[in-house]
Amino acid sequence: MLPDEVIAAVQAAVRTRRRVTVVTGAGISAESGIPTFRGEEGYWRIGSQHYRPEQMATHATFRRAPEEVWRWYLYRRTVCHRAAPNAGHAAVVAMEATLGDRFALITQNVDGLHGRAGSSLARTCHVHGSLDQIRCARGCTPEVHPFPAGVADHDRDTPFTDDDRALLVCPRCQGPARPHILWFDESYDERFYRFETSLRLAAETGLLVTVGTSGATNLPNHVLQIVLRAGGLVVDVNVDENPFGRAAQRHGGFALVGPSGSILPALAEAIAAAV
Ligand code: APR
Repeated sequence: MLPDEVIAAVQAAVRTRRRVTVVTGAGISAESGIPTFRGEEGYWRIGSQHYRPEQMATHATFRRAPEEVWRWYLYRRTVCHRAAPNAGHAAVVAMEATLGDRFALITQNVDGLHGRAGSSLARTCHVHGSLDQIRCARGCTPEVHPFPAGVADHDRDTPFTDDDRALLVCPRCQGPARPHILWFDESYDERFYRFETSLRLAAETGLLVTVGTSGATNLPNHVLQIVLRAGGLVVDVNVDENPFGRAAQRHGGFALVGPSGSILPALAEAIAAAV
């Protein structure tokens, strides 16, 4: 159950009829069994003896060793496909069903769980891309393509195969394909990652819910500052205290400490009761 003061503040923010925006990070998928990035078992912690983990998520490494980078993404894609959305993802879907076009989801996650839970593509900004899409590595067109059918599951040590090489090609020019993922040495943009759209949505937001993110990247921080400057209410959901929770509390908002799978259903219920 949520504290009465949280319910009252959330319902007052919903009744302003401004936008309700949810920003999610890896923490919302932790209860589905997908490692986060900076947690104990995080992707940026475990890596391998061959590379520092964060190096894999760069265009520079992809240029130097494309098949090594592909192997790492095919392994992560397999981990994500073996996972199922949890009650936190379902609660985000319920918020969208309640609010319709007043709702927006900005997710840093590339694991596809929001879509599989039922969040609509139209109201979701995948600001870091998706493991279920590819692009032309040479950029022959700006198109983003569905992931090719037939690519086998990869465990951590599965080699890159001739089948992978034959399937992971650009459907237009048949040249090599790349993951549709924003890498650390690349920039947000509107065309691939709906950057300007995310900032516009933030400017229209009266209630911002930040979920399971450590605040390590700049777009969520940008969204947070825009909402706070416009006088919006911020509610952070995280198992640990973090910069978003602290910022929320400094501006009359709330830091709800606990697993998103337990807290978000109660938040969705409070929102539905205010509409
Ligand atoms: N419920 C809520 N929050 C949780 C849960 C949970 N069950 N489990 C973990 N968390 C929180 C952690 O406390 C942490 O604050 O989720 C957050 C995960 O932080 P990161 O691992 O840094 O992931 P994220 O914030 O999504 O990283 C942002 O950085 O590396 C890039 O592109 C990558 O999208 C990623 C971005």
